[in-house]
Amino acid sequence: MEIKITNANNNKIDSVLAMDTVNHNAARTDAIIREYNHLAPEYDRRWSFYIAETIQETLKRLDIKPDSKLLDIGCGTGSLLQAISLRYPSVCLVGIDLSREMLKAAHKKHIKKSHLITGQSQELPFRSNSFDTVVSCNVFHYLHKPQKCIREIIRILKPGGKIIITDWCDDYIACRICDLFLRLLNRAHFKTYGKRTCEQILRNTGCIQVHVDRYKINWLWGLMTAKAQKPSQNTHG
Ligand SMILES: C[S@@+](CC[C@H](N)C(=O)[O-])C[C@H]1O[C@@H](n2cnc3c(N)ncnc32)[C@H](O)[C@@H]1O
Repeated sequence: MEIKITNANNNKIDSVLAMDTVNHNAARTDAIIREYNHLAPEYDRRWSFYIAETIQETLKRLDIKPDSKLLDIGCGTGSLLQAISLRYPSVCLVGIDLSREMLKAAHKKHIKKSHLITGQSQELPFRSNSFDTVVSCNVFHYLHKPQKCIREIIRILKPGGKIIITDWCDDYIACRICDLFLRLLNRAHFKTYGKRTCEQILRNTGCIQVHVDRYKINWLWGLMTAKAQKPSQNTHG
């Protein structure tokens, strides 16, 4: 929540609002952890079609160099990491997710050259300039501040590093209706984004070569995949 209030008690109000925001975000994070810890044992089976389609669309746009280092944000049960590992066996893979149970399911897949870490996408526990590629599938509609996550991605990417993000696309009516329901009924869900907003967020946070494709994976459901790059001239950390 970005609220700026200026009056005589500025400091006091600001600190109350900041505390509210912290509590609100903590509650949202708890809701995501609870939801996915609960869903983890069933996740792969229940969402198999959706997982397979998003992996395929993401892989289509992925071009990784051998021996490079890739991070999957919100890696969940590790299906995308597993698919990447099969196609690029020499790549060092790191997955981060809020939910321990989702990561436990990923661990059971014994994905070669992979490390799984619990953590928050908006405060990535990695050194600056340490990854060649960052991917993320089906996570951005949970993020309260996607800009903050993209800034973190830019920080940890090496100059010239690539970003591939696949998520629901708000430009499709079914997704918009689902978004409205989930906002009312599901505390974990935050909001879905459309192609233009996605492009703006990426450009405003300093990404270059921004390109967003939107497409349907069946008669009803629409997704988008964003490709972008960190500039080669390093201006971060
Ligand atoms: C719909 S699942 C997607 C999992 C996997 N990427 C896939 O496509 O199958 C969303 C995942 O994002 C994780 N997640 C949501 N918000 C997150 C955040 N702020 N930081 C890290 N992980 C997050 C959830 O715990 C969950 O595992």
